[in-house]
Amino acid sequence: MDDVSITMTPPESQNLKKIVAESAVNHYVRDGMTVGLGTGSTAEYAIRKVGELAASGYELTCVATSLRTEKLAAEVGVRISDLSDVEHIDVTIDGADEVDPDLQLIKGLGGALLREKIVAAATVKEIIIVDDSKLVQKLGTRSPLPVEVVPFGHTKTKYALEKQGCKAALRTVGGRPFITDSGNYVYDCVFAAIESPFFLESRIDVIPGVVENGLFLNTAYAVLSVNGEGVVTAIGRDGTRDILTP
Ligand code: A5P
Repeated sequence: MDDVSITMTPPESQNLKKIVAESAVNHYVRDGMTVGLGTGSTAEYAIRKVGELAASGYELTCVATSLRTEKLAAEVGVRISDLSDVEHIDVTIDGADEVDPDLQLIKGLGGALLREKIVAAATVKEIIIVDDSKLVQKLGTRSPLPVEVVPFGHTKTKYALEKQGCKAALRTVGGRPFITDSGNYVYDCVFAAIESPFFLESRIDVIPGVVENGLFLNTAYAVLSVNGEGVVTAIGRDGTRDILTP
């Protein structure tokens, strides 16, 4: 018998984002919940899926992590509540830029780190959705660490950040500083690797002018990671690993 070779075409990267985002919504969002909506190209697919649930009759209270997310939610028919008006958030689905083996994260390449961290702090189950290129052995090896700073005296803040062992670059758009939803600047801090994330966070947080940093430590309840074949693995805070069915 002739050899038969079957060539599997891997799902494209946008499709992988859709797969992992929809898997998160299917597994964690239930009728009647309060849901935090993340920011970024992966979280966008989760927001659209939440829109489908709302259209199908789910009674959901939703909170947004950015103005961009608020706008998309409105487009897909999801009403956004003020975080101050909800008691707590049952589940938030958000992306990340890096995930280490202990589920510590870097977030904020999308510039929404401040609101994302406030929403995560009010959340019972923070579900992180990524493709497996974001899984790293050490934080800081793939992504810079975004740090949100007030514009006043920001070059002095940059100097203090660089004393922590990084090269800090002011994020710009079209030659002007990128402005966050809260009117601040972002410095992207490039480290060779972040050896002690908790220690680094404690050092950054005491720098005058720093509003928030992109280290999300002990924040993830579970990380859903999709591989190139579209298989989603849920990695729990307790070390469990489960393959999720769509
Ligand atoms: C937004 O500020 C970020 O924290 C995003 O969640 C993160 O950058 C991941 O975005 P993508 O899903 O677009 O990679």
